[in-house]
Amino acid sequence: MAMFNCCRILSTATYHPGLAALSARASSVWAHVEMGPPDPILGVTEAFKRDSNPKKMNLGVGAYRDDNGKPYVLSSVRKAEAQIAAKKMDKEYLPIGGLADFNKACAELALGDNNDVIKSGRYITVQTISGTGSLRIGANFLQRFYKNSREVYLPKPSWGNHTPIFRDAGLEVKGYRYYDPKTCGFDFAGALEDISNIPEQSIILFHACAHNPTGVDPKSEQWKELAAIVKKRNLFPFFDMAYQGFASGDADKDAWSVRFFLDQGINLVLSQSYAKNMGLYGERVGGFTVVCSDAEEAKRVESQLKILIRPMYSNPPMNGARIAATIMNTADLRKEWLEEVKGMANRIISMRDQLVSNLKKEGSIHNWQHITDQIGMFCFTGLKQDQVERLTKEFSVYMTKDGRISVAGVTSANVGYLAHAIHKVSK
Ligand SMILES: Cc1ncc(COP(=O)(O)O)c(C=O)c1O
Repeated sequence: MAMFNCCRILSTATYHPGLAALSARASSVWAHVEMGPPDPILGVTEAFKRDSNPKKMNLGVGAYRDDNGKPYVLSSVRKAEAQIAAKKMDKEYLPIGGLADFNKACAELALGDNNDVIKSGRYITVQTISGTGSLRIGANFLQRFYKNSREVYLPKPSWGNHTPIFRDAGLEVKGYRYYDPKTCGFDFAGALEDISNIPEQSIILFHACAHNPTGVDPKSEQWKELAAIVKKRNLFPFFDMAYQGFASGDADKDAWSVRFFLDQGINLVLSQSYAKNMGLYGERVGGFTVVCSDAEEAKRVESQLKILIRPMYSNPPMNGARIAATIMNTADLRKEWLEEVKGMANRIISMRDQLVSNLKKEGSIHNWQHITDQIGMFCFTGLKQDQVERLTKEFSVYMTKDGRISVAGVTSANVGYLAHAIHKVSK
């Protein structure tokens, strides 16, 4: 007993938890790993969750909400799930490039069934892990096989994940002017000037529609001029289409820019996501397409895409791709889905209108027309950082620091409150 007590005294005299942690850290192979900054959007959600104000609004996340502010599962998705469950299919691995029925329908949705590219088979589409996975496969493919440049030019600003995706794939990320804070619209002259000065054959990224984060898209006449410079300067276009159908409510209209570039004889690569337009966020369904000069080249490209994918994740998950393929390849489900996409887009368009009319009712004298001119899930309000901070602090309205709101998070019940809050911080 005496000996036991003696040991205890000794150990409490020498043991110090803080010192022990420090020495463990110093001896760890991860001792040099610095704490990284939190994701800016997830940080907004964390702060929102901690807020007890019943009127709080989270306009940070890019996921659709119905008019009750609830996540929305499309009825066409529920029906497709039921059809799939009834078939009791096996769960063997998919091929490296994914589900063939999905890939075909995915390319046709983007390019149009009658597109010459589809008819001649001079393309390859592989199923990817949603839009992010598609961009990453694309970035890695270009890094390995696009020999003409290491530089990719993004619109300024662009979706926050574009830079790390391309940079981590080993490309050099640069930018071209896109958003004009003075008009809260497209800086067409700036974009044309910058793009004209990009070194020939560089890679250039375009958001096919519903530009994130600004909601600002070029008009069709402007796309035509952009395509002309791309062609003249031999730039290589990478289209990111994460919101097909979600911008205007019409999937064909939203793919117009991509189809126009193809009609001009510009071969491109394309990333697609079914997160927003089918509400399949967590199912991770997407596609990556390379348009080639002929079907034989497409076969060679396909073989290399498989070689790229195999050591990354071997083959993609099947559930979401089965849902998307069932919807796109079953006439009545496809019809229902396209109606539902239109419904989501229209709700967002109507919230933009209501926000502007409520701001006017509040007595705001500012010109808020950009709110209705912009398109898709996001709106760049033009609010400054200090105004955003006041919105959060005084009104529990959460958004990213750049003043971007997800219009999908606005409902008939809270649009008046939002307008009131915006007016109070901006008058
Ligand atoms: C412009 C853009 N590209 C790609 C994505 C990819 O999304 P996901 O990986 O969820 O399909 C998003 C999602 O917010 C986006 O806004």
